[in-house]
Amino acid sequence: MVHVRVLELFAGIGGFAAAFPDLEIVEAIDIDQSAREVYSANFKHCYSVKEIASLPLEWFSCHRADFWWMSPPCTPFTQRGARRDLKDPRSDAIRHLIHVVASLRPPLVCIENVIGFETSQTYQHLHDRWQQVGYHLHTYTICPSALGWPNRRPRVYCIASLESLPEIPKPILAPRSLREIVDKNITPETHATLWLETKTVDRYFDAMDRVSMANESAMTACFASSYGKAIVRSGSYLETPSGFRRFSPREVARLLGFQDNFHLPDTLSIQRQWHLLGNSLSLPAIRHLIARIIH
Ligand SMILES: C[S@@+](CC[C@H](N)C(=O)[O-])C[C@H]1O[C@@H](n2cnc3c(N)ncnc32)[C@H](O)[C@@H]1O
Repeated sequence: MVHVRVLELFAGIGGFAAAFPDLEIVEAIDIDQSAREVYSANFKHCYSVKEIASLPLEWFSCHRADFWWMSPPCTPFTQRGARRDLKDPRSDAIRHLIHVVASLRPPLVCIENVIGFETSQTYQHLHDRWQQVGYHLHTYTICPSALGWPNRRPRVYCIASLESLPEIPKPILAPRSLREIVDKNITPETHATLWLETKTVDRYFDAMDRVSMANESAMTACFASSYGKAIVRSGSYLETPSGFRRFSPREVARLLGFQDNFHLPDTLSIQRQWHLLGNSLSLPAIRHLIARIIH
């Protein structure tokens, strides 16, 4: 891979850094202190806890980064939410970045977000503004389940490049099974808090996303930051002889493609770990995309 200087914006726990350990991350930035705790337990790159909307142009230009990675908050664009788009204060940082990128013209920019981003006013504004200053824009939708990975996490990736980009080939990978993910040592005796109460299962049974290891092609749902708080539409539950249980943070990390040497500090509660992982990235999906652009 060629030498590339990367700016990791909205870095969270470092899904991007974990997917590309050989790239030079010149700085990672996020407002969340607990995300920094996880990031710093795993990577040596400089990590600033700062509000991106408040950073001046000079802050960005002094890094001389060739590639800006950004995964801004999804809430303004999720189809299930209020979709306040540009009116949502959580879009202030991406609006600022649209202006900063148009002014400084870094060679390559990639934005990751939920399905719905590509039809938003924010995307339209970004598209028009960046095209005016000479970018080629490409939008891809990738789900790790289409790469043979047992997890759904469909996401939109918008790439802005000053050079035209190659076609991304259709993936051909050997399917992975849930058996490779599930921790055999988890039992109701060792991890009682992972098990759902019978009354919860009875109440939400039809709406819960239930998976079983008996099914070789079982596919887990997208794990959201609300996993562990909301029962439905937040992730999957594993059927076991002792009832249904949540996936542990380590298993969720595996489903996102993190290696087991990725450290999840014990100082963070299990709810916080689920929250941070639910905000992160699918590593197989971004590798599939980015490895073909930076090579
Ligand atoms: C979708 S998550 C991205 C997570 C990251 N890709 C990862 O691998 O963990 C969005 C991140 O943006 C951060 N964030 C939201 N608004 C921000 C802002 N205005 N300035 C800096 N970071 C912000 C959140 O704390 C969160 O970690």
